[in-house]
Amino acid sequence: MPKFKIETWGCQMNEYDSQKMVGLLKQNGFTQTESEEEAEVFILNTCSVREKAVHKIHSRVGVLKKRYGEGKIVGICGCVASQEGRALMEKIPYLKFVLGTRSTHLIAKAVNRAMNGLKFLDSNDHKIEMDAPVTFAERTGKTKAYISIIEGCDNFCTYCVVPFTRGREHSRPLSIILNEVRDAVENQGIHEIELLGQNVNSYDYEGKGFADVLEVVSNQPDVQRVRFLTSHPKDFNERLVRVIAAHDNICPTIHLPMQSGSDRILKKMGRQYTRSDYLDKIKMIRDILPECWISSDFIVGFPGEEESDFLDTMDVIQSVKYDNLFSFKYSPRPRTAALKLRDTLVSDSIASSRLSVLQHTQEQIQLNKHLAMINHVYPVLIESFSKKNPKRLTGRTEGNHVVHFEAGRAAQLIGSIVDVRIETVTMASLKARLL
Ligand code: 5AD
Ligand code: SF4
Repeated sequence: MPKFKIETWGCQMNEYDSQKMVGLLKQNGFTQTESEEEAEVFILNTCSVREKAVHKIHSRVGVLKKRYGEGKIVGICGCVASQEGRALMEKIPYLKFVLGTRSTHLIAKAVNRAMNGLKFLDSNDHKIEMDAPVTFAERTGKTKAYISIIEGCDNFCTYCVVPFTRGREHSRPLSIILNEVRDAVENQGIHEIELLGQNVNSYDYEGKGFADVLEVVSNQPDVQRVRFLTSHPKDFNERLVRVIAAHDNICPTIHLPMQSGSDRILKKMGRQYTRSDYLDKIKMIRDILPECWISSDFIVGFPGEEESDFLDTMDVIQSVKYDNLFSFKYSPRPRTAALKLRDTLVSDSIASSRLSVLQHTQEQIQLNKHLAMINHVYPVLIESFSKKNPKRLTGRTEGNHVVHFEAGRAAQLIGSIVDVRIETVTMASLKARLL
């Protein structure tokens, strides 16, 4: 049986797409391997959100070509494939197939053709296929099932390539989403569901919105935890927060990317909210959900960002005190509107120093938040044995904190929820005792 190795970069949506492709290839008689030597086919599922990610893919293809020449089949899927399509095939003739984000259902065809010496390219917008139920995603060893509810993005934030790589918004039918949830719970024994979309709050299918999806999914038998990613602040509303508050199994964990604390920069980014709109939503969330976990994304060094804009961002970070933060230097992306801004570009050294100030501040905030968790009891969903110490288990709190604890009687309980008491902490993780 031909063996393939899949390498996944980027976000949870790519992870889910990879799981679908693995499932499909297995159905078609292929075997997955982690060994580079054993693999006959390499599938690189790629990310293009920042330039660095694209460079990594190009250098990975370069390494494979140098190491194996024509001895292996190498193909690219995902966002780089969607963004560049035919141009990518022309630029790197070594590639045997290129499949866009909406063509992943064609993976077995692409690999079969490549094994017969034929190249394959498809970066079309196969909307209908997105509505097909995915009951073949490979989730062996996983305790959480990613399920896509809406694909693409229509927001066109001026820095972002996603609307060009993942296409226009398309909400998947609720019945199909529920099929996938039931399959994960009943056939794969998974009790945590993470609903995915570039902007889950835009979900709109036959009059149903995201709050409806969340409610219906959380009411399914044996669904112990529901999470979701990502929300756009402009669409995040009180009804959704009330649904979270009314269901014990929906994690009160909200990722609400702000991107910048400066109104001037938010406007240039095309984010469609102001700093005070955003802060009002944070207040609304915390009023309704006193125990909740909020995280965000920020970009520093956007064109025209001055020191005072950066200080506005820092002011938000100091006052909101996020539970987790993802921060990036602005990276110019092809076709995006920000390329046309006439503002002065921020030098790389200034952007780097802003990023390090931001990250250092967040580390302190996070450490203090973790210190405040000591001696408190939290439910943890056990995910696996710890990689470093097989006598330890690793799990996650509702707030997504990584928790390590001695396995004891819980060794048999991977995939279920146990109570632990937090004993020691670092900025990145928590150590606990099983109760
Ligand atoms: N440069 C830097 N960061 C970006 N992001 C998206 N596009 C860019 C870009 N061009 C960040 C945003 C987004 C996260 C997924 O990636 O913060 O929320
Ligand atoms: Fe990109 Fe903005 Fe869409 Fe998020 S909402 S995927 S940042 S365009």
